[in-house]
Amino acid sequence: MALKDTKVLPVDPVNPEDSVILQAAHLLVRGELVAFPTETVYGLGGDALDARTPQRIYEAKNRPADNPLIVHIAHWKQLEQLTPEIPDTAYPLIRNFWPGPLTMVFKRAENVPLSTTGGQQTVAVRMPDHPVALALLRKAGIPVAAPSANLSGRPSPTTAEHVIDDLNGRIAAVLDGGPTRIGLESTVLDLSAAIPVILRPGGITIDMINAVVPYAISAAPGEAERSPGTRYRHYAPRAKVIVVESLEHSIEEARLLINRGHRVGWIGQNSPPHALHLMFPNDAAFYARFYYAALRDIDHQGVEVVFVEPVREEGVGVAVMDRVKRSAGYDKPESSS
Ligand code: TXA
Ligand code: MG
Repeated sequence: MALKDTKVLPVDPVNPEDSVILQAAHLLVRGELVAFPTETVYGLGGDALDARTPQRIYEAKNRPADNPLIVHIAHWKQLEQLTPEIPDTAYPLIRNFWPGPLTMVFKRAENVPLSTTGGQQTVAVRMPDHPVALALLRKAGIPVAAPSANLSGRPSPTTAEHVIDDLNGRIAAVLDGGPTRIGLESTVLDLSAAIPVILRPGGITIDMINAVVPYAISAAPGEAERSPGTRYRHYAPRAKVIVVESLEHSIEEARLLINRGHRVGWIGQNSPPHALHLMFPNDAAFYARFYYAALRDIDHQGVEVVFVEPVREEGVGVAVMDRVKRSAGYDKPESSS
């Protein structure tokens, strides 16, 4: 039997049309999966409190079931449904960063299915800063579990086309609100223990968090294992990714590969001739926004090896280089998310 195509629902990203949002909200409430834009990346949404939804999400994404989902809400009050205990530290963080790219991990309330939390006694929650996401969450009136809307192991989607490339026929619909603004996933901050710990770096930096909660810390290497998604190889294109350490060496290596007839890509400013050059200025926000799309482009063009010039690991550059290194396989080799 032929798969039914995923419905693409174009929507105004600034003033989302009621009728379109209503359609998508109906699907969600009926237990269907709907992808939608957030300020970070596109999410693959389903009813977070229905124990069957995560299974459907995992199947659509080909994702291991021990990888917990982030629950999205439209109003902080919805937190009271999701955790028995909102710690005092959460309130200033909510005031400063919600809606926005900060996910916080709390103790799990009993009505949150273990399937949603990947078997953990904690639940990750965020309020996305995107008119379409917020309108959808309000209309549906339910907390919505949403991982990035890519096939497991592929770069996170920053456009509806990326979602369709990966998930066509596997989900009911995608709200097409154009390209996302930030381009990489939210910061994940664990508030379930005494000391708040960043499990995944993102758009909200450690300095921004420390300005509000001075004793929050970044996870030491290894510690981030507590965020199960970070155990797996993420964000990987088919091409081999090489992070440029010495410009001269990499240019030489690229030349050699090109001379041997390989298709070589270059992300940065200093591409050698005859490489597929994606011009990236040395700017972390630019990398955040366009890196995943660049990886997909590289694959479409049949590139075998791509060199990536790094940005400074400060501010958003920390999150950018985390993703760049993961795409290069610096983390463990299993595949996921
Ligand atoms: O920006 C984002 O966060 C996007 C958009 C769609 O909101 N979502 C996203 O979801 O990136 P996903 O599933 O691709 O990544 C979720 C991350 C994983 O690293 C996962 O392990 C971690 O959040 N996480 C979720 N629940 C957790 C929990 N209870 N404890 C620790 N880490 C958790
Ligand atoms: Mg993901």
